[in-house]
Amino acid sequence: MRISVIGAGYVGLVTGACFAEIGHQVLCTDNDASKIAALESGTVPIYEPGLDGIIEKARRAGSLSFSADVARAVASDVLFICVGTPPLPSGDADLSSIDRVARLIATEAKSDKLVVEKSTVPAQTGQQLKRALDTYARSANVHFHVASNPEFLREGTAIIDFLHPDRIVVGVEDSVTERRLHEIYKPILGQKFSCPVHGASCPPARPPEWLVTTINSAELIKHASNSFLALKISYANMVSDLAEKLGANVEEVMHGVGLDPRIGPHFLHPGLGFGGFCLPKDLQAFVRLAEKNGVDFAILREAERVNQERIGRFIEKIRGTLWVLKEKQIGMLGLAFKANTDDIRFAPSMELIQRLREEGVRLRVFDPQAMEKARARFADLDCAADAYAAAEDAEALLIVTEWEQFKQLDWKRIHSAMSRPLVIDGRNLLSPGAMKALGFEYHSIGRSDAQSQSLADTAS
Ligand code: UGA
Repeated sequence: MRISVIGAGYVGLVTGACFAEIGHQVLCTDNDASKIAALESGTVPIYEPGLDGIIEKARRAGSLSFSADVARAVASDVLFICVGTPPLPSGDADLSSIDRVARLIATEAKSDKLVVEKSTVPAQTGQQLKRALDTYARSANVHFHVASNPEFLREGTAIIDFLHPDRIVVGVEDSVTERRLHEIYKPILGQKFSCPVHGASCPPARPPEWLVTTINSAELIKHASNSFLALKISYANMVSDLAEKLGANVEEVMHGVGLDPRIGPHFLHPGLGFGGFCLPKDLQAFVRLAEKNGVDFAILREAERVNQERIGRFIEKIRGTLWVLKEKQIGMLGLAFKANTDDIRFAPSMELIQRLREEGVRLRVFDPQAMEKARARFADLDCAADAYAAAEDAEALLIVTEWEQFKQLDWKRIHSAMSRPLVIDGRNLLSPGAMKALGFEYHSIGRSDAQSQSLADTAS
């Protein structure tokens, strides 16, 4: 099928590339001409494992093309809107890009269109979208169908999530639209495509659930899912605070809690809190949506408050060991909001850098992928060539992102490079016992300092 994807950000690029991979003819557009020029010359502007290979293959095969002329996208019969919906100062989602795209589609369309919203939007946006399309339509003979098809991709594993999802949610108004979307997703629903990630050996999994709902429900499913994930993380962080006071080990506690299938093991890891361009903004937008509809979602406001406290608590942990922060040389490992991405939007590292610099700390940072983006934010950031250089002469080394490669470092070498062998692990990435055995003073989150035998030790 001929599909256009409007918006070439994280969601749009993954969506376009994966649709091309499963056999569709895809045109990906964005009004950022420099981004499109980069894509056309073979440069993928974001780091997402596996994405560059899929894009390159599809470009060569002619199944994926790019254009900065968004109006060109309207030639396809099916249009996926993947533009950004950033937060406004009020916390509401800024829907101006959706509105702009709707007006453009309406004025450019010469035949009937199926317009699918994939961007994360508050419930009832689909209704507004339909209204805008009908209002601005140039011809009474052109009809618009609207659907909601929220994405559940995680940065860092977005390709796997797209091709092996646990559910595909479509909010539709009619059965024709449902059938067309079903046709688009057929290879994924039947898991009949040659997998670019796993080759012939995809891990066994249940085929995805095809969930057909109203448009309002589909939109609500997305916000309710992300907000629930945020809630779980804040809950784990509160348990972690208590575990620290009581001398328990939060990893053991949350492991035990997550063994209950009604709760599940995921998103129960405490640390520096949730960041990124989805959970924080979606939580806020969901609270605002509830508020506007007379529902006080206090439980979510509390989850947000708990999250906002994380950086302050971490700084207190640093101060608790270093005493005075001013003029101390500190190394920071990790800038990305989580591992396997270069995304620093709403990353805990950004606030941490800001606040530590205000305290007069001399920071040297390293991240395997996010250095360029961080430098664009803080022009004078002292960037190390690698983790060892970040640790050189440092009085403390902070672990801020859970990159697997930080686990594999030569920690003996780091020990001898530091002026004080102190590691403060904001992600519980390392094993307290192993770090102590190497002679480090080691602090982590929710794992009492007195405890050396943690789950992580037992596993390693
Ligand atoms: C999130 C959702 O997980 C996806 O399902 C959704 O599609 C996506 O938002 C979106 O709306 O586009 P993502 O933002 O890529 O995905 O990242 P997550 O894996 O959800 O992590 C979010 C933050 O929570 C990260 O900062 C991570 O470090 C933190 N986190 C996650 C924890 O602190 N503890 C955990 O147990 C899990």
